[in-house]
Amino acid sequence: PVADKRPALLPTTPTGIARAGELLRAGKLVAFPTETVYGLGGDATDDRAVAAIFAAKGRPQFNPLIAHLPDLAAAQSWALFDERALELAHQFWPGPLTMVLPRPANSALSLLVSAGLDSVAIRVPGHPVAQALLRAAGRPIAAPSANRSGAVSPTTPHHVLESLGDRVDAVVTGGKCAVGLESTVIDLTGPEPVVLRPGAVLPEEMERLIGPVRMSAGDPTAPKAPGQLESHYAPNAAVRLNAKSAEEGEALLTFGPDRFVFGGTARLNLSPQGDLNEAAANLFSHLRQLDQSGAPRIAVMAIPDEGLGVAINDRLRRAAAPRS
Ligand code: TXA
Ligand code: MG
Repeated sequence: PVADKRPALLPTTPTGIARAGELLRAGKLVAFPTETVYGLGGDATDDRAVAAIFAAKGRPQFNPLIAHLPDLAAAQSWALFDERALELAHQFWPGPLTMVLPRPANSALSLLVSAGLDSVAIRVPGHPVAQALLRAAGRPIAAPSANRSGAVSPTTPHHVLESLGDRVDAVVTGGKCAVGLESTVIDLTGPEPVVLRPGAVLPEEMERLIGPVRMSAGDPTAPKAPGQLESHYAPNAAVRLNAKSAEEGEALLTFGPDRFVFGGTARLNLSPQGDLNEAAANLFSHLRQLDQSGAPRIAVMAIPDEGLGVAINDRLRRAAAPRS
């Protein structure tokens, strides 16, 4: 008989979480909610589980993964924390911040997690289900966003199933992710802290604690030519930015009051009140919905490039970047 390969749907009850923890310890892949996006989890100390994550996502092997731990104490076994890292951990963990730190010598973490680098990205998520699952698993869990590589990140269990289908062994079915954008990634391996990916923890908030923070070359405030942007977070439809109205055949994604923004074969508003937190939480699910309308292109109104808008615009620019 052919085994039923559909993923197990596990509720966020103690029993469901205990089962998810068992599956992770057995080397299986379990998608689970965090406050940012759903993660595709696997045991970060198990080379086969980590390799299975790369395979399920269709992800280039050179792109390293984040190891998730339930608290700073647990995280300190897997990375070397200097004063700056401790300051940031105390202020922003648990929460949507990932720190790239030196890997200790003889670390039992799979080398695949670091993709051959001598650093490791560590995050302590704040979502209660993620917290409970990490404690149940009792080991670091590697978890990229639970979608096929390059596609739109998942913010609901339904998105995970749409994107990964039977490539995942189980999905912990929490609700919609509150933040909706991946964590801020800050590299602390050099003398100067560098933000590698903007997110809900803002550079100015970190600067108050650790001094000047540089945005990486992919910095949306210092845009490269569009052709140099890596295509990512991309729906099937093409994406056109800074639209004032929709052109013939386009779907339309608006922000703020949009009574005088015209057209759209399908249209959704990220936040009618113009709230950037709400817009971030809606971004990926709205892109998916407009994509499913079948429109060949999605026109997107300008989003203010301040605060969380920087992270939203980073994702939108990558969604609009030329596809290879
Ligand atoms: O919000 C999030 O961070 C979600 C949830 C599931 O926690 N995870 C996530 O993982 O977005 P992923 O794999 O999609 O993104 C990880 C990012 C990538 O941009 C990767 O290049 C970077 O972190 N990264 C990981 N390890 C690194 C390292 N050692 N050095 C530099 N960058 C690293
Ligand atoms: Mg991702």
